[in-house]
Amino acid sequence: MLNFTYDIPTRIFFGRNQIDYLSGEIKKYGSRTLMVYGGGSIKKNGIYDAVIQQLNEGNIFYKELPGVKPNPSISSVREGSGLCKENKLDFVLAVGGGSTLDCAKVISAAAMYEGDPWDFVTGKAVIQNALPLGTVLTLSATGSEMNSGAVISNEETQDKLPVLSDYLKPRFSILDPAYTFTVNPYYTAAGVADIMSHIFEQYFVQIPFADVPDRMCEALLKVCIKYGPVVIENPEDYQARANIMWASSLALNSLVNLGKVTGDWAVHFIEHEISAIYDVTHGIGLAILIPHWMEYVLSDQTLPKFVDYGKNVWNIREGSDLEIAENSIVKTYNFFRSLGIPMHLRDVRVDEKRLDEIAARAMRLDFGTGTIGQFKPLKKEDILNILIHAA
Ligand code: NZQ
Ligand code: ZN
Repeated sequence: MLNFTYDIPTRIFFGRNQIDYLSGEIKKYGSRTLMVYGGGSIKKNGIYDAVIQQLNEGNIFYKELPGVKPNPSISSVREGSGLCKENKLDFVLAVGGGSTLDCAKVISAAAMYEGDPWDFVTGKAVIQNALPLGTVLTLSATGSEMNSGAVISNEETQDKLPVLSDYLKPRFSILDPAYTFTVNPYYTAAGVADIMSHIFEQYFVQIPFADVPDRMCEALLKVCIKYGPVVIENPEDYQARANIMWASSLALNSLVNLGKVTGDWAVHFIEHEISAIYDVTHGIGLAILIPHWMEYVLSDQTLPKFVDYGKNVWNIREGSDLEIAENSIVKTYNFFRSLGIPMHLRDVRVDEKRLDEIAARAMRLDFGTGTIGQFKPLKKEDILNILIHAA
């Protein structure tokens, strides 16, 4: 049913040299910034220098929080919020991929909270305020640059859980596709898989009459299929990087979910449990699981959606409905493999002996229903079966 309210407060600066807007944008909100970034890629590719030049030109005081790791941890959030409080900072700037952005988002809320920020992740506390936040995106994947989510890990408990709040939506995001030229093929492929997975999670749901969001989903998937191989082959193809970058933001800024209320998200819940335990790149884990999830949920009830997917995304014209559906799943698998993604859990060193534990942990977000997912609700045994097929 297309009844909804849509509100994205994030101002987008998209294209080459949009960094020139950075200091002007920050000064609308504050003058003392925490700059959050990852393991050093921005120092090698010149993005760090461009940001510092902007901060200096704008006379913006700043402190740095470097070293945010992929699958960002609560300890980085604690460190960042401590810096904000000690130095009376009034703005948080994230420069990096989804991990850096997610960490910075929760720092912005933690800076306004007296307790431990892990409380936001466990649900013990609800975010009620946050410092204003801006982002400079360097990797196309998560959509974090334009949404209200963050995913935070806890090394001690091996938890990896989402936090959602409107307070976490960035005030602005600078999206320069040239900033993603230096992302290596592995992370580029993982990013494309993550974007496609976000679309699948919102496309494969049993909601009738959602033609506008469904056709948008199909269009974005076709963009990923067209340009995914191009950005792997030629990392400095600006037009290809630009299309993938904009697709990543639109895939998870609520636009393709409007009127649907819910998504499936089972594959994401399962993958988060894998990358909570193992050092697996989020998009790679998703790509391994997706074709097996698709095979598992294909049934008489879900067939029509797979037929739409096969016809409208992969242009499959031949065969019965079931053949079109099955062919679309084979094409999905082959596409991920063609990007150079290892297609088994064992390839990313996931131990088969822990699959049962991963399945059990994935059930934690069942909200008391005993199942996860909407397209075909999955019990723990179903998840284990999918994991065994993916092993
Ligand atoms: O740390 P640095 O040195 O910057 O290197 C990073 C990192 O090693 C590197 N990188 C980033 N930009 C680069 C670059 N290398 C060269 N040139 C550049 N321009 O790439 C590596 C991966 O970075 P990361 O930020 O971890 O990747 P991604 O953007 O895929 O983020 C993944 C995280 O986001 C979460 C995932 O679970 C995972 O923790 N997600 C967040 C979501 C959200 N906020 O809405 C939704 C997603 O479904 C996802 O769960
Ligand atoms: Zn994702």
